[in-house]
Amino acid sequence: MMKNYIAPSLLSADKNDLKNEILKVEKLGAEWIHWDVMDGIFVPNKSYTPEQVQEYAKCHKMVNDVHIMVQDPKKWAPIFADAGADLVTFHLEAVDFCPKCTAKVINDLHAKNCKAGISIKPATNVKTCFPWLDKVDLVLVMSVEPGKGGQAFIPSALKKIKKLRKYIDKHNLNCLIEVDGGINAETGAKCRKAGADILVAGSYIYGHDDVKERMESLR
Ligand code: DX5
Ligand code: ZN
Repeated sequence: MMKNYIAPSLLSADKNDLKNEILKVEKLGAEWIHWDVMDGIFVPNKSYTPEQVQEYAKCHKMVNDVHIMVQDPKKWAPIFADAGADLVTFHLEAVDFCPKCTAKVINDLHAKNCKAGISIKPATNVKTCFPWLDKVDLVLVMSVEPGKGGQAFIPSALKKIKKLRKYIDKHNLNCLIEVDGGINAETGAKCRKAGADILVAGSYIYGHDDVKERMESLR
């Protein structure tokens, strides 16, 4: 059964009012909350730390969905699991597509009772994900170049979502499909139609007065 979840990205939230920003979307029905972690190496910017995740992970009941855009997921994935992440998603590019390293990050997360996700950047072939779909809980398709919010949706993500949906359904796997970057009512609808379970949206949701209507438009 496909899910129909929304994961607001805190990258576009008011960092000085994080608790209220989190509670606001929870009250409006968001099932997941998306933490974008950047190390200044894998992507040029820096963002949330394990301390921040830890501080706010338990002030709500949504799934703490932690997307780590970092060069060293082997080191950071377990740290974010300990900080209260329910799911940690790392990039296959960050481990250079090394099967041994990928398996280690996934196993370390599962050993901590944390769900594991893999992600690919827009230029990466979706086939690189296939060998992992029976081992992970989620696959995250980046529909913008990771690093910052507010960019335009890259349409080739739709083809990737369709291929993943087909593979997951054919093999009867439990892996969820998430899409992240440039999501609004129009691109969100296309992603749902292509087979995405979870829509991440940052700048479309945060920083506006009509958050309720915007979230409803993503359903
Ligand atoms: C991009 C991040 C996204 C981003 C989405 O590096 O992974 O989660 O915040 O932002 P919008 O929705 O503004 O494209
Ligand atoms: Zn993200």
